[in-house]
Amino acid sequence: MNAKQLAAYRAVEYIQDGMIVGLGTGSTAFWAIEYTAQRVAAGLKITAVATSEDTAGKARERGIEITPFDEVPYVDVDIDGADEADKDLNLIKGGGGALLREKIVASASRQFIVIADESKLVEKLGRFPLPVEVVIFGLEHTTRALQSLGCKTTLRTTPGGVPFITDNNNYILDCHFEVIPNAPELEKKINAITGVVDNGLFINMAERVIVGCNDGTVKEIVKGG
Ligand code: A5P
Repeated sequence: MNAKQLAAYRAVEYIQDGMIVGLGTGSTAFWAIEYTAQRVAAGLKITAVATSEDTAGKARERGIEITPFDEVPYVDVDIDGADEADKDLNLIKGGGGALLREKIVASASRQFIVIADESKLVEKLGRFPLPVEVVIFGLEHTTRALQSLGCKTTLRTTPGGVPFITDNNNYILDCHFEVIPNAPELEKKINAITGVVDNGLFINMAERVIVGCNDGTVKEIVKGG
């Protein structure tokens, strides 16, 4: 198993029979879907919700039924990846463009478990460009407002060169801060801009970060631990 697989495998052990489970998005969360599917095939009974259309498709292909998110009252455990995680378990997410649904599902979760390889652990958030989901109308105005917070911005595009459209029919602006000295404050400032739907800073949401290491070990960093 590689580092991503190790982290995902450990996280899936937290799923118990009867739980409502959030399935994350991205290349690490993919392995959690895979291992969850193996447990479901072996008899585990869960209700699963997805953080993106991509994840819903991958889960269904593997025999996991996906329940619409609004049909569950809460989520017992949500397992998702991250682009960066700091020692306070604050995160940058959204490299795959699914940050809004990921944040909504994580907010409704009793336990939000992040899975990552070692490369995602950072001293300070910000080297990874912060994804911000914005509505299409007024893009230039929203872009300028974001730039006034001290970043360069790039409109996310597909490999074909057209703007990337999220599952919620919005654009993503990737904001290059390089370093974010105060992530909780920036999260609020960005979301106060009209035209911004949400941003990829996940503050004080993760309960546990499970890190797969290249030497084959797994470490768990727990909130307040
Ligand atoms: C998806 O929008 C993201 O938040 C992913 O969870 C994040 O980008 C981590 O993805 P990888 O596991 O592919 O690095």
